Amino acid sequence: MAKILVTGGAGYIGSHTCLELLEQGYDVVVVDDLSNASLESLRRVEQLSGKSLVFHEVSLLDRDALRAVFKKEGELDAVIHFAAKKSVKESVENPLLYYQNNITGSLVLCEVMQEFGLSRIVFSSSATVYGTNGEMPLREGAQTGAVNPYGQTKLMMEQILKDVGGVNAWDVVLLRYFNPVGAHASGQIGEDPEYPFNLLPFVSQVAAGLREEVSIFGDDYDTEDGTGVRDYIHVVDLAKAHVQAIANILTKEFEGKSGSKGETLTYNLGTGRGYSVKEMIEAFRRISGKEVKAVVQPRREGDVAVSIADPTYSNEHLGWKAELGLDEMVRSAWKWQTQHPKGYRS
Ligand code: UFG
Repeated sequence: MAKILVTGGAGYIGSHTCLELLEQGYDVVVVDDLSNASLESLRRVEQLSGKSLVFHEVSLLDRDALRAVFKKEGELDAVIHFAAKKSVKESVENPLLYYQNNITGSLVLCEVMQEFGLSRIVFSSSATVYGTNGEMPLREGAQTGAVNPYGQTKLMMEQILKDVGGVNAWDVVLLRYFNPVGAHASGQIGEDPEYPFNLLPFVSQVAAGLREEVSIFGDDYDTEDGTGVRDYIHVVDLAKAHVQAIANILTKEFEGKSGSKGETLTYNLGTGRGYSVKEMIEAFRRISGKEVKAVVQPRREGDVAVSIADPTYSNEHLGWKAELGLDEMVRSAWKWQTQHPKGYRS
C-alpha cells in the first residue's frame, strides 16, 4: 500500500487525517515538531485504528533532519502538508515567525521533495485566501487577497506550489478549508488549543464551566441575526477529503483525465451551508444541555460578515462531499470536551 508522509500529523486536522489514512490501509509517516501538538494524539490514532504509524519529531526548518527522514523511509508516494502555525492574531503580532515557519518550512519541504524525487503533494490551505469582494458563496475562482500574515502565508504557499509543481510536473492539490470544527466520534481525538480563539472551542469551554462567558463579536453585521456567518465543516469530513485527494493523485483520476502532471487542482472544503454565531451557541446549548452565557461585544478586527463555500466543484471533481451536519459537529466537540476537559493533558 502507498506510503504517505504527513507533516503536522499530530495536530488537530492532521491526527484525524492520519486515522482515516490508516483505516483506508495506507502506511503513514508523520513528521511534527510538537510545537502545537501532542504525541498522545497519535497514540490514540494508533489505538483507534489498531494500526501503527511511524513518527519523527522533526521541524521542517531542520533540513538535515528532514533529509534523514526521507533517506530512512525510502520510497514515499505522496505528502500531505499540514505543518504550519495557524493563529491569525499571533501572525499579526509576529509576522516574521509566520513567514519563517510557514514559508521557509514549506520551501525546505519542497526542496527535499525535489531532491528525493517525490512529486505529489496535498496542501492544507484556507478560505482565508479569499478576498472580501462580496461574491458569496465562494467558488474556487473567486478573487483572492489575504488580509493578515497568516492568510498571506497560505496564499504565498499556494503560489509557490503552483510554480514549483508546474515546472517540475508535480501533482499538487490545494484544499481550502472553511471553518473546521468537531472531533472524532469516539471522543478520543479532537482540537486541543492552548487558548481557544475560535468560536466552537471557546463555547465548549464555557459549557464545561471552564470559562465564564463567550463574547459574540458583533451583532450588527448585515446577516439575518446580525452575527457573523461561517461555513463550519466537520473535521472528519475534512480528513476524508484529504484521503480522497491522495487516492485521486495516486490513481491519476483527476478531473476525469488521466494524469494531472504539472497542474494544480484547487478545492473548497465546506458544506455550502452557513450558521451564525448565535445559531452555533444555541446548538451547543441544545446538545450539551448547559446554559452557555453569551455577551455581545464589539466586532473583532479583520472579521468578515459571511464566509460560505460553494462546494459544487469539489463535489463533482474531487469526488467528495461533506456528510456530517451541525448536530454531529457540536455533539462530537462536546463529547471530546467532556471526556478530555484538559485536552491531551488530562
Ligand atoms: N466569534 C465570536 N466569539 C469568539 C470567537 C469567534 O463571536 O469568541 C465569531 C467570529 O467573529 C466569527 C465566527 O465566530 O464570526 C467564527 O470565528 P472563528 O474564530 O471560529 O473562525 P474565523 O472564521 O475567524 O477563522 C477561521 C479559521 C482561520 C481562518 C479564518 C478565515 O480559524 O484559520 O477562518 O478563513 F483564517
